Amino acid sequence: MNGFKKEKRGGICFYNCDNIEFMKTKPDNYYDLAIVDPPYGIERFKAKDGGNSKKITTFQKPKDLYRWILKTYAKDGFKILDTHGGSHTNAIACDMEDFELDIVEIDQKYFNDGLNAFDNHKRQLKLF
Ligand SMILES: C[S@@+](CC[C@H](N)C(=O)[O-])C[C@H]1O[C@@H](n2cnc3c(N)ncnc32)[C@H](O)[C@@H]1O
Repeated sequence: MNGFKKEKRGGICFYNCDNIEFMKTKPDNYYDLAIVDPPYGIERFKAKDGGNSKKITTFQKPKDLYRWILKTYAKDGFKILDTHGGSHTNAIACDMEDFELDIVEIDQKYFNDGLNAFDNHKRQLKLF
């Protein structure tokens, strides 16, 4: 895909680009399920965080929330789309629940930090 930074880890593809440009490259009905968390109303979360969090983003959602969404709404073999990757906890959840995922994040730092967090998660699994 021209101009898009892409990293692949098993069934998870990470894209560092604008989701609108990314979606233009996909045919209709390409995905079975979209799990999206656009940046609306995030100022409330920033205010509560106080800037002391170890999270990748102040609006990071827990991987267990994504695992619950997958268990509740996805069926075996579903191809999942996340257009707003942020901290990429959804990628960890999809890996744990064995779903294929395309995850898109426009911000380079969030993209790199999210990918590192995913790789750390995989390394920790290998230790046990
Ligand atoms: C509310 S956050 C997502 C948080 C994520 N669910 C998590 O748990 O960390 C929204 C994210 O969308 C990204 N974003 C905003 N506009 C985008 C665009 N046009 N294409 C791709 N990502 C975008 C922002 O950089 C931000 O990381």
